[in-house]
Amino acid sequence: MCGIIGYTGPKSVVPILIEGLKKLEYRGYDSAGVAVVNKSKIQVRRVKGKIIGLEKNLKLSPLNGSYGVGHTRWATHGRPCEENAHPHQDCTGSIVVVHNGIIENYLPLKQKLKEEGHTFCTETDTEVIAHLVEKYFQSSLEEAVQQAVQELEGAYAIAVLSTRDLGKIVAAKDGPPVVVGLGDKENFVSSDINPLLNYTQKIVFLEDGEMAVIGTQGVKFCDFKGSVLEKKVEHITWSPLMIEKGGFKHFMLKEIFEQPQVVRDTLKGRISLDSGKICLDEIGITPESLKDITRAVIIACGTSYHAGLVGKYFLETIARVPVDVEFASEYRYREFILDEKTLVIVISQSGETADSLAALRAVKEKNPVSLAICNVVNSSIPRETDGVLYTHAGPEIGVAATKTFSAQLAALALLALHLAQVKGKINEKESLSFIESLQRIPHKMENILNQAKSIEELALEFVSFSHFLYLGRGVNFPVALEGALKLKEISYIHAEGYPGGEMKHGPIALIDEKMPTMTIVPRDGVYEKMLSNISEIKTRDGYILAVAFEDDEEIKEKVDKVIPIPSVHPLFTPFLATLPLQLFAYYIASKRGADVDQPRNLAKSVTVE
Ligand code: M6R
Repeated sequence: MCGIIGYTGPKSVVPILIEGLKKLEYRGYDSAGVAVVNKSKIQVRRVKGKIIGLEKNLKLSPLNGSYGVGHTRWATHGRPCEENAHPHQDCTGSIVVVHNGIIENYLPLKQKLKEEGHTFCTETDTEVIAHLVEKYFQSSLEEAVQQAVQELEGAYAIAVLSTRDLGKIVAAKDGPPVVVGLGDKENFVSSDINPLLNYTQKIVFLEDGEMAVIGTQGVKFCDFKGSVLEKKVEHITWSPLMIEKGGFKHFMLKEIFEQPQVVRDTLKGRISLDSGKICLDEIGITPESLKDITRAVIIACGTSYHAGLVGKYFLETIARVPVDVEFASEYRYREFILDEKTLVIVISQSGETADSLAALRAVKEKNPVSLAICNVVNSSIPRETDGVLYTHAGPEIGVAATKTFSAQLAALALLALHLAQVKGKINEKESLSFIESLQRIPHKMENILNQAKSIEELALEFVSFSHFLYLGRGVNFPVALEGALKLKEISYIHAEGYPGGEMKHGPIALIDEKMPTMTIVPRDGVYEKMLSNISEIKTRDGYILAVAFEDDEEIKEKVDKVIPIPSVHPLFTPFLATLPLQLFAYYIASKRGADVDQPRNLAKSVTVE
């Protein structure tokens, strides 16, 4: 939550900060601000609302400066308003701070600082940082920040500047991400790499307890005690084009359409069509360590959790390994039972989700084998697991996860096959059969996307509904959950996902002509059961849509509308069935005029509890 950015170099600083903030806006968008230094004077501009408002404000009344910092906020402490927007200042106005995270002990710190004579202007936790830096300032900004952070409890990625020590931005990290971009006579700090891609591909990732002192001529890295650090410079392969809309109305739509390629890219180089072998040498966990695994626990949040529920079916069916799937936010507080023969799989697109990271840290005390399935290279979660299986989805900007879900499914299918091979649970013929099915999925996804127009026409009939039910069984129950999540998060229509068989235990009471039901009904082992559930709804005047195999004639007689998908190995139906549900939600939300890429109250990376 929240995005921070900083720039120092010869270019005009405000446009770089604004462009950077737009690329970080997915992290939070209830207020924004910048601070720039001009001839030993700090100028701050803040607005309630989105970056576009800040940009307009700065056009009407421009700020000039040689370096500066910016912030886009997702409010945690203090309501979204101009006063609570970052950057925050000390009593003298000579120090400003932008912050991503939560300072948990801000109330006692604030009380103490007030007693010492500091005056506070906001309701935020962040403001204490500015006053602490003020308190400890003697000669250098980095020394003051080093002392200030000793007093902080919680999570923070901060960027600080001061007119008392000109020409530098000091960044510090404990929790949320901080990346430093190394350019040609210009340097950057940011919450992620997206704002930097137009300027440099040379990136340094800060670890917890590390700081960067960023100047135009160079960057110095040190720890919180001031010891100088040699940091590895990573070369990033993502290109600036990947974070453009490419002619689509929204990032979400572009990302939905990228799914065939994303699945291809995630499978590429990891499967052999000759031998049926899965090659995951890169993951950092040896086949020997995996061989002794007796169970797996998947930990995740949101859409990644739904991918985990599908993954349970893949792993249990293909590798015959029992799997529990857990919400990270619940699991971390449980008396969980794990041992060193448990494979803990943390699934996270961003690799920064606070609950997933905290759950990972909690389980590590029991010494399981830990694996991240993650999309962002070098993010916090894969840095703390024994191994990582990266999804090759490229940057996902839309707050609603779409292409990364498909990439996670591809990674989970690979993992299931790999585990099955390592444990001798599958023969070559069976392997080849699964691999061939997987290989055909991208093409089948393209066939579905080619029908987007007819899905749009169908979706438009439901724009004014207020409630929706999504039903699936078996491996498609998580698809129902994901379809419902997509609809509610981007269109604000109430939607519930349910296993079909649970209908008669309560939810069926909701059925009337105002509550349509979206069903996922491939011809699989529970097809007949789903037909019975459909019939139960139909007899109560419910309206039914069905995502079903295109060659299924029977279903057409049973439901009101069919959304056809190509037939596929039943276990892999989620790869295909999810796409029409994403499109259905997208077209409804878009028609309702919702802010599809940045739905209200949400942020892409939930880096606070
Ligand atoms: O980055 P992560 O995969 O850990 O994020 C998990 C959830 O925050 C995320 O999937 C969220 O639910 C999305 N809004 C879903 O579209």
